[in-house]
Amino acid sequence: MAIWAPESWRGHEARQLPDYPDPGTLAAAEATIARFPPLVFAGETRALTAELAEVAAGKAFLLQGGDCAESFAEFHPNNIRDTFRVLLQMAVVLTYASKLPVVKVGRMAGQFAKPRSAPMEEIGGISLPSYRGDNVNDIAFNEASRRPDPERMIRGYNQSAATLNLLRAFASGGYANLLQVHRWMLDFMGRSPWAERYQDVANRIGDALDFMAACGLDPETVPQLQGTHFYTSHEALLLPYEQALTRQDSLTGDWYDCSAHMLWIGDRTRFEGSAHVEFMRGIGNPIGIKCGPSLDPDGLLHLLDTLDPQRRPGRITLITRYGFDKIEKGLPALVRAVKREGRPVVWSCDPMHGNVVKAANGYKTRPFERILAEVRGFFAVHRAEGTHGGGIHVEMTGQNVTECTGGAVAITDEGLAARYHTHCDPRLNAGQSLELAFLLADMVNEEMKERERRAA
Ligand code: PEP
Ligand code: CO
Repeated sequence: MAIWAPESWRGHEARQLPDYPDPGTLAAAEATIARFPPLVFAGETRALTAELAEVAAGKAFLLQGGDCAESFAEFHPNNIRDTFRVLLQMAVVLTYASKLPVVKVGRMAGQFAKPRSAPMEEIGGISLPSYRGDNVNDIAFNEASRRPDPERMIRGYNQSAATLNLLRAFASGGYANLLQVHRWMLDFMGRSPWAERYQDVANRIGDALDFMAACGLDPETVPQLQGTHFYTSHEALLLPYEQALTRQDSLTGDWYDCSAHMLWIGDRTRFEGSAHVEFMRGIGNPIGIKCGPSLDPDGLLHLLDTLDPQRRPGRITLITRYGFDKIEKGLPALVRAVKREGRPVVWSCDPMHGNVVKAANGYKTRPFERILAEVRGFFAVHRAEGTHGGGIHVEMTGQNVTECTGGAVAITDEGLAARYHTHCDPRLNAGQSLELAFLLADMVNEEMKERERRAA
């Protein structure tokens, strides 16, 4: 294979990158970011790879979630806190159900750039460049706003740094204390219409905590209960930005993209000969690959040869996103090919991106029932193939938005307009996220029972 360098992607076909009008300001912004401190340290990404290797081995579960697109407008400590809090609540439910450690990764602190299905957007006879995320251009529909501006990458970096700083403080400063997380859950249950259905699990988690406390195991005595590991991730789409944050690790001499712990390649940029694949093959971070219906088993194996020639457990997470009606037909072929080749990957389910529909009133939404159906299909396939359904990848927020229909609070098409704030795809709100975690818990539980039956 040809020699890799942080800029070698420039010799490949790069789709989904903005057309910056002025190369001079782009180069200046890249040079500025290249002098900024890395956001993460290579050793942290190796720690995440090790945790993901446990998932690949069937001994842990991956929870990855956050905004579809972070935005400058929604940048607020309360938003960061609330998304972090819901992710921790989901993790506790999943840990309890699976009896496995849960690896927590936010789509946070850098998830700005968006791939789009069309380069231009037309409204009322006027055609302008599509919105590509706040680190590229502005969502307002006018010519000046939609012009790609490299300076926005610097603002994106600064927002990512501040977000990551707060997440690190929450994760290790006492906010993520396990008893505290359980208290939030009880508080939340008290107010929710589905409390009765899930009260039992919440009570059992409470009993387990009481029992542990009686044995002398509480956050005062066990540091693991005081905090948690929390990692960041985003789609490595905006390659000029990613390259500027790619640094050589002084300990190993290897290259890491220090914009986040984990990066993933989107469904639209994983094609043969892609600049994005070229970039990703040379960085040492754990990487995700979005796998949609257009990816066939040979294409996937070829990607794995390129991105993970050494077959490092935890290096690759395959994030499948088929759509609720396609997963059971499409996924088995990929699972069988990967199993046959003995590749140590994490299988994770993105039940969001294959299930977008347009409501009658024009809002882009995702019916909760379809999201659940895809998750169910995902676990059914892995149960049948004897592989580990190892993770979930969701677009969610801690805010009480109305973007996905359905769920126990039953958001209707008409209700979408009330609090529809997303800058891109519709997200699960706090209640829907937690409800998904409870339902997921049942499915993971099933997988564990099936495993015991097979082992017996
Ligand atoms: C996303 O995760 O926001 C996304 C665009 O996904 P995909 O590449 O799977 O369409
Ligand atoms: Co999205």
